[in-house]
Amino acid sequence: MNKKKKWNNTLKDKSLLGLRKNYLNDFRNKNEFYELIFYIKGWTKSDCFVYENDSFGEEDIKKFLELKEQLKTKPMSYVVKSSWFYGLNFFVDERVLIPRSETELIVDNIVRDKKNYDNYLDLCTGSGCIPIALSKYKTFKEIMAIDISSDALEVAKINCDKMESNIIFVEGDFLEPVLKLKRKFNLVTANPPYIDVNDKHVEDLVKNNEPHLALYAPEDGTMFYRKLFEEFYNIIDVTKPFKLISEFGFQQKEQIESLFYKSEIKYKINFSKDLAGHWRYFVIEN
Ligand SMILES: C[S@@+](CC[C@H](N)C(=O)[O-])C[C@H]1O[C@@H](n2cnc3c(N)ncnc32)[C@H](O)[C@@H]1O
Repeated sequence: MNKKKKWNNTLKDKSLLGLRKNYLNDFRNKNEFYELIFYIKGWTKSDCFVYENDSFGEEDIKKFLELKEQLKTKPMSYVVKSSWFYGLNFFVDERVLIPRSETELIVDNIVRDKKNYDNYLDLCTGSGCIPIALSKYKTFKEIMAIDISSDALEVAKINCDKMESNIIFVEGDFLEPVLKLKRKFNLVTANPPYIDVNDKHVEDLVKNNEPHLALYAPEDGTMFYRKLFEEFYNIIDVTKPFKLISEFGFQQKEQIESLFYKSEIKYKINFSKDLAGHWRYFVIEN
């Protein structure tokens, strides 16, 4: 008899309360225990109170133990194949970065912005979380989203269909497709990879699971900002209301300022902090 089966049979109380008593301490935190239960049973928080004494079936217990095991080395979002972002539930797997709560601030900034923008470009789209969330709150004539990873774009398209958004996805290297097409946009959002390739402080859970293409960038992690500033006038339509907004690493403000002041851009740059008080994104607008 294998080890998992043995646990299963020795688990006397097969209800939620029983699972909680036996296994809660195996989880990184209480939320992860419940998230697994929601995923397996399709329950809500209140269902957990209503059904807390009901016995789980053999299959559910087996699944619970298997997924609990996976959680030892994998982030929850990859185990349950979903992640919440700006109130929407996105499909995610190992092909894309798990959307982060800091990134919601970019969406929120634009949602609160009274200006309207015709054409919208999202760079480094990953799961598509930024343009898809924005498309639920703002109307654009066109939304284009670029990523170099065809794998990531497959996930973005799944989310686009799931959320019934209308986005043109383009596979390509950062600004190259836009420069090639000689297209300019009024709104540009970006959350590029920005971790220095030599950074030794990246959490194991992140480093061992999330795509390195989504994490690391050359030039101390600032290469994409340099490119953005260099090509600013070739990608932004400054004849109309415009906004360029991008996330960056919490220790990169000074490097970004220095790149900005060396550039030809004649507009102001404003920096904003995240909820933890770290500098997190910049905005250039007219
Ligand atoms: C930090 S993730 C951001 C994903 C998503 N926008 C989000 O906020 O969750 C960066 C994304 O940039 C993509 N990427 C990396 N290098 C790129 C490049 N040269 N051109 C376009 N996309 C790139 C990666 O594939 C990844 O999906």
